[in-house]
Amino acid sequence: MKIFLDSANINDVTNAYNMGAITGVTTNPTIISRENKKFDDVLAEILAATGPEILVFAEVLALDAEGMIKEGRAIAAKSSNIVVKVPALAEGLKAAKVLSSEGIKVCVTVCYSPTQAILAANAGATFVAPFVGRLDDIGENGLNLVQDIRDIFDAQGIETQIIAASVRHPIHVIELAKMGCDIATMPFKVIQQMIANPNTDRAVAGFLKDWEKVPK
Ligand code: G3P
Repeated sequence: MKIFLDSANINDVTNAYNMGAITGVTTNPTIISRENKKFDDVLAEILAATGPEILVFAEVLALDAEGMIKEGRAIAAKSSNIVVKVPALAEGLKAAKVLSSEGIKVCVTVCYSPTQAILAANAGATFVAPFVGRLDDIGENGLNLVQDIRDIFDAQGIETQIIAASVRHPIHVIELAKMGCDIATMPFKVIQQMIANPNTDRAVAGFLKDWEKVPK
């Protein structure tokens, strides 16, 4: 399973990228707003800090298809690595259909049901992003949604890739990987939680201590 970073923070991007952990960076308007910088500048910084293999996701803000298409074309023109995010709304699907037909990679985001995912795939989306943690937040099971979409896409031979979003902790990551989710996008904190293990720290400290006993 591929890991994407769900952050526009340049330190997080650089750290995650240098660790070899990620092959994509996802943003949304909330994530961009945290950086207190212009949208174009944030995107340019992320692209400059990463290599050509990294996809960078940026979301449209218009609520009508025409506006989304215009924004999507402008965002996509910045780099061939850009993926345009449109919401899982009727207008978003209309935009996804047009942008995809123009060869622009589209992610249908804020997906909360398998039916939205089916429609996103039919509209030509390269990616669909179900929100796992936010379903957990309201007492539903976000992982079950991803499993349903996985089962449907497999049964139908649909190639649209599933990006599990709103991933909150390492157990989400493990369960998503086991079910064959294509990608999970997460804050840098979750990537840090994935690597952290006190036994590893203890072992490294023990090796260093024992090395002191080796005659020099
Ligand atoms: O990628 C979607 C994500 O940014 C939402 O995450 O934790 O705000 O639900 P969260």
